[in-house]
Amino acid sequence: MQTYTAIAHTNIALIKYWGKKDDKFIIPFNNSLSLTLDRFYTKTSAQPITAATDSFVLDGQAQSGAALSKVTSFLDILRAETGSTQRLAINSTNHVPTAAGLASSASGFAALTLASCAAFGLQLPRRTLSRLARRGSGSACRSIYGGFVEWKKGQDDLTSFATPLAANEQVDLDIAMIALVVSAQAKKVTSRQGMATTVATSPFYPAFVKSCETDLLAIKQAIDAQDLEKVGQIAESNALKMHATNLGATPPFSYFLPETLVAIAAIQQLRAKGFLCYFTMDAGPNVKVICRGQEALKIQAELQALLPNTEMLLAYPGPGAKIVNSESLKEAH
Ligand code: DP6
Repeated sequence: MQTYTAIAHTNIALIKYWGKKDDKFIIPFNNSLSLTLDRFYTKTSAQPITAATDSFVLDGQAQSGAALSKVTSFLDILRAETGSTQRLAINSTNHVPTAAGLASSASGFAALTLASCAAFGLQLPRRTLSRLARRGSGSACRSIYGGFVEWKKGQDDLTSFATPLAANEQVDLDIAMIALVVSAQAKKVTSRQGMATTVATSPFYPAFVKSCETDLLAIKQAIDAQDLEKVGQIAESNALKMHATNLGATPPFSYFLPETLVAIAAIQQLRAKGFLCYFTMDAGPNVKVICRGQEALKIQAELQALLPNTEMLLAYPGPGAKIVNSESLKEAH
């Protein structure tokens, strides 16, 4: 039977998703906005099989236990939603430099959604694919699209999905991101755990949600105006507010390591010298620098001089998820 292969790129949020109103359906408290990147992606094949259970190979290794059941539970959701009963052999490879600590559930679940639905014989609109990917991992709904993408929180399963800011998914703003790999260690608190603790206990959480509304409006205006300085300022501030909610949680936690602060100080030092560079951070210690595409190599060289032992990976805006091996399946819009 035919195998379907999908590629999905990872995305980095400039306005963060950090907290679920509904844990089962993954409905967030606020809209978020991300940039899909060209450099990091997941390639996933799905093959219909006659076996009684799904199988899952990740980066060449057959998976069992928790890793396998994470995939089979998600495939059960896809089967329940689409009416398929088909079991699948899933083979997935993360194209993220090894030990970079940047492996992403976003590209993983987006690619899995596309490949699996194609293997079920379905041609679904991308809005539906975004909704379905969201059930695996919230941020995955944004990786269905390229360029700047907004996840509209909606009120329920049917109304919560991502849409691209520009209909052609192109980015007119000259923007790049440099991932500073300050630590390759696995994070102690997963994003799922971390956001749940924060929503339940942090008195700062409602203030974060409120400020996301203002930040989102402002960053969309700045993107329209091609004002990268504004985009960077808003993204950096939004990320710091997200991380501040975690310090207010019970028990308190933080993704910052000493090396994170050293990297931030280097970015601030470059800024003081007149370079346009800001940062954002997700549920881990690594820092992503936001800068102009045209200046990215220069900024990377300046940062590398200040942080000689830090691995740096440069990325530019990337495309939406797609099926890459099938002529017969045209992408439905
Ligand atoms: C900090 O999408 O990984 O990267 O929905 O529980 O799977 P789950 O969480 P996930 O969280 C991403 C959090 C973030 C911010 C963001 O990407 O918006």
